[in-house]
Amino acid sequence: MFEQLENMDEVAAMLLVLLWGIAGYRVGRLVFRPSRQKLRKSARRSLRFIWFCALAVAGRLAVAGYMTSYGWDYGSNRMILAVPLLVLPFAATLALSVPALRAIAAAEPGDADAPTTPGQRSAAAAPRLVIPVQTTAIGALLGLYVVFVARPVPPYTRYLIGLWGVLAVGTAVLSLRQRMRQAAQGAGAARRPRLWARMVRFVGTVAAVALGLSGTLSYAQSASRLPGKLAMDSSPMDWGGGPKAMAGMAMDHSGKSVRTTSVTNLTGDISGTPDESFTLTAKDSTIRLASGKIIHGMAFNGRTPGPELRVHEGDLVQVKLVNHLAGRRAGVTLHWHGLDVPNAEDGVAGVTQNAVQPGHTFTYRFRPHQVGTFWYHSHQDSFEEVTHGLYGALVVLPRSGRPQGLDMTVLAHLWPTANGVRTAALGTSDRLQRRTVAPGTRVRLRLVNTSSLESGETEPTSFTLTGAPFTVSAIDGTDLNKPTPLRQARLLIGEGGRDDLTFTMPDHPVRLSDLQGSASDLVLRPGGTGDGTRGSMNWPAFDPAAYGSPASTPFGPHSHFDRKFKLIIDDRPGYYDGKFYFLPTINGKSFPHIPMLMVRKGDLVEQTFVNRGHAGHPMHLHGHHALVLAHNGKPVTGSPWWTDTLYIQPGESYQIAFRADNPGIWMDHCHNLEHATMGMVMHLAYEGVSSPFDIGRDTGNKPE
Ligand code: C2O
Ligand code: CU
Repeated sequence: MFEQLENMDEVAAMLLVLLWGIAGYRVGRLVFRPSRQKLRKSARRSLRFIWFCALAVAGRLAVAGYMTSYGWDYGSNRMILAVPLLVLPFAATLALSVPALRAIAAAEPGDADAPTTPGQRSAAAAPRLVIPVQTTAIGALLGLYVVFVARPVPPYTRYLIGLWGVLAVGTAVLSLRQRMRQAAQGAGAARRPRLWARMVRFVGTVAAVALGLSGTLSYAQSASRLPGKLAMDSSPMDWGGGPKAMAGMAMDHSGKSVRTTSVTNLTGDISGTPDESFTLTAKDSTIRLASGKIIHGMAFNGRTPGPELRVHEGDLVQVKLVNHLAGRRAGVTLHWHGLDVPNAEDGVAGVTQNAVQPGHTFTYRFRPHQVGTFWYHSHQDSFEEVTHGLYGALVVLPRSGRPQGLDMTVLAHLWPTANGVRTAALGTSDRLQRRTVAPGTRVRLRLVNTSSLESGETEPTSFTLTGAPFTVSAIDGTDLNKPTPLRQARLLIGEGGRDDLTFTMPDHPVRLSDLQGSASDLVLRPGGTGDGTRGSMNWPAFDPAAYGSPASTPFGPHSHFDRKFKLIIDDRPGYYDGKFYFLPTINGKSFPHIPMLMVRKGDLVEQTFVNRGHAGHPMHLHGHHALVLAHNGKPVTGSPWWTDTLYIQPGESYQIAFRADNPGIWMDHCHNLEHATMGMVMHLAYEGVSSPFDIGRDTGNKPE
């Protein structure tokens, strides 16, 4: 919805440039009307046209106002920058140009066919008639620049000065020209400049504009190129309103100064003999979907998705990663998505380790302290590698008690099956798959969304479960409090996110559908026939903010926050690393220019996300779980909702909070991984922690 308003506003902005451009041109030419009759007619037409333009202004104001009704952050750039640039010159048009035009239109014709008098020409060329209209056109053009190109975020001071400066200079130049024209025409001197002169001027202007534009673009392109090697600590920092560390030093929460620590030392206690050991070998692989479609992809241990790792809470888990990928630049890592492991085990190339090159190995060790549904994936070249198969499920079971009934993971994925075409599948099944389950069985479906959506999507993947009332028992690996049964609900699971669905098997089929695909459904049935029915995109979206019952939480909306970060998500056309995209941005910036969110161990940290862009983004913070405090300004009323991957649609805002209790340098990025490759990546960094690793094309490390 919001993105439609935005599109409307942009169309209106373009239309205004066109309309006011025409209006400005028309009033500029009034003076060249050969006869009194024609001058009057033309003035009348111009007036009518200006009223029409006024309607467009009103329309634009209405749309911009409506956008602002979502919250000031959604419309402030329009209200502060674009709208005044349009409305003030427009007011001048009403006050000055319209009366002047009226006077001309109402003048006694006398001899209608007689040529205009010097006095009439002087009135028609008066700057006070012409300039306000033309200035409105400039204002409209600058407004278009604001909403379509620059899309500034506060503070707006720099833009206010720049834009009004351009408007003032433009107006001054036009006034000067108009005054000269008025003097010439009033004296009865030259009529219109000759055709060839006008042609030359026109071609010259177009050439100058084209030259300026292409110069600006190629400058922007080369300026966007990333350095071949980039260290994490070269990024700017945002201290979120909390205390800053002194240069070269860091402090702990009690104010004592501490030495800086390398991320490689942040391993947690990993001594002893592993309780559970796995080896994951990455290899190129031809992946065949159920329909026969082929993906030239990659796999762990020759399986797609990779082997499911089931481990127990508190156990020492060891996973040895072996890289047998072919190709010079085919590094790989393992990241434990949603599991808040110590930083050294987080598996992010260029941040917590170097990418593991072909022929090499790396061993991860950690003790999981959360129980629930997680997944693992490569965090080197992750858009490529995850999309092409380097991922698998990771389930942490409680220390005691075995899962009852049927406990299965379902990994929904979008496979790149042919040039640009992507096929939705559950695992590798893009066809209906059936499984026999005895009635009365307790079923837990651990649904993981491992996809990355197309760039411009506004909603995450929708899933439905039909045939039995079910509960959403856990989100992002965290149990919900007293979830209640659902029917006809559409579950929106952000890319990277997880929902655990539980129900009791009835005596008829239950069907899980990924509505993104046409047939990637799973039917559980007690035997016999029947496939149940698919859910519908028209079903209401499940709202985790009002589901289940409240329970006590370690902090809440009224807690005192040590740091507050406001993150405005937007997008605009632009270059990133030399390529042109419709770029997603955070506070107007892309990696590595988005400041690192700086915290101190023990801090309570608030993040507010506001999405005023055209696309939705599943934002994923590593190493921490955040409590959702409010959605669109409304406090969460149901069960505490902890998340690690939060989907934010256009027009939505979320206030979330987490305790900074896991020192390190942590990625915080969009899990529509293509967006990460376009720079939608920031980092949460603890003061006093440094990374010896580098990112960039010369380093072999490319986490996105
Ligand atoms: Cu699932 Cu940064 O990752
Ligand atoms: Cu995104």
